[in-house]
Amino acid sequence: MANAGNRPLEGRHILLGITGSIAAYKSAALCRLLKREGAEVQVVMTALAKQFITPLTMATLSRRPILVEFFDPENGQWNSHVSLGEWADLTLIAPATANTLAKMTSGVADNLLLTTYLSARCPVMVAPAMDLDMYAHYTTQRNLNELREHGVSIVEPGSGELASGLEGKGRMAEPEEIVEAIKAHFTEKKKSLSGKHFVVTAGATIEPIDPVRFLSNHSSGKMGYAIAEELASRGARVTLVSGRTALSIPAGVERVDVLSAEEMFQATTRAFAEADGAIMAAAVADYTPVSVADHKLKKSDNDLSIALKRTKDIAATLGQEKGGRLLIGFAMETNDEEAHASEKLTKKNFDFIVLNSLRDKGAGFRGDTNKVTLIDHTGKESLPLMTKREVAARIADKIETLL
Ligand code: CTP
Repeated sequence: MANAGNRPLEGRHILLGITGSIAAYKSAALCRLLKREGAEVQVVMTALAKQFITPLTMATLSRRPILVEFFDPENGQWNSHVSLGEWADLTLIAPATANTLAKMTSGVADNLLLTTYLSARCPVMVAPAMDLDMYAHYTTQRNLNELREHGVSIVEPGSGELASGLEGKGRMAEPEEIVEAIKAHFTEKKKSLSGKHFVVTAGATIEPIDPVRFLSNHSSGKMGYAIAEELASRGARVTLVSGRTALSIPAGVERVDVLSAEEMFQATTRAFAEADGAIMAAAVADYTPVSVADHKLKKSDNDLSIALKRTKDIAATLGQEKGGRLLIGFAMETNDEEAHASEKLTKKNFDFIVLNSLRDKGAGFRGDTNKVTLIDHTGKESLPLMTKREVAARIADKIETLL
């Protein structure tokens, strides 16, 4: 994604949600400005919003068909809120009515925009628009505070003449101000880790037995990829040393593909030499066959034993050489979790270790969620069940405090 220089929106995916307010006419100008800044804009409207601005206007300006319903009644095509949420780098709801803000805080999912909001993994920004008394009402203020506490950015409304004829605060921020807020959002993220270089290991290694078979494990790579993506979105240079996964390369990340533990060792130690730190999220095989047959092993009536030898411990090696650099490890345990993780923290010289217990529902392999405890030399912090991307953000926050 090219977002160099002073065009932080270049190539960014912005999901523009429009709800039923008279201020919806400003969404047209907003969409135009976003496009001019190089962003891709996908408009999702509520049914009521269509009364205020036409889908044709928004589709023409965004150069994409706009979405309103869960599916197209003409051809049955399904509009997936999950894919929309995944596509977006930012969900922007402008204008956001008091009704939509209230539904957002209580998890109501009765239209495509709200379901997309509930499944979005990206940051969310809202630009409220309503009459002054509705804006000042304690329920609206309570809802805005709650959204703020959960990380939603609010572009404050302005004061002035309102559509009702009254004067006061409630008028949606001008499109130019909203665009500035979005630019600041992406630029700030960019700054926090810019100039830093991290190596992230991810996925499963593959240890060949013969040209056809191998030893491996269940790691999907999702946790490591989420970390790589999060660090890159904060401006870091990221070298992702990846074992086998089905995932595509996250935006802004440089990927080195490897297969065996030995290949991962070589690639990781090489990249670490010029990095500021490493996050070891890969599931590395601890053992590999002593020898690899150069032809396919044929079965016989007898049982077969395969002699295995230890692989190199990549994390432990980096731990010995790290000097002032950061090293973060993972531990996946099934019993005596914290004791095992603390032992690995010390043994491998990690700055902190991310523990997940396979006993926790929603944690571990393959899924999109994780439940982890961050353990360092002074204590531990147990996080609730969250998406892997959110866990990645918490890990990145902790990295920032250690730099
Ligand atoms: N690790 C590594 N290289 C290896 C093995 C593990 O870099 N050859 C890293 C993992 O990426 C993870 C941490 O070390 O960050 C896991 O520690 P480890 O003690 O190896 O965990 P397990 O392999 O699960 O150990 P055990 O089987 O003893 O529980």
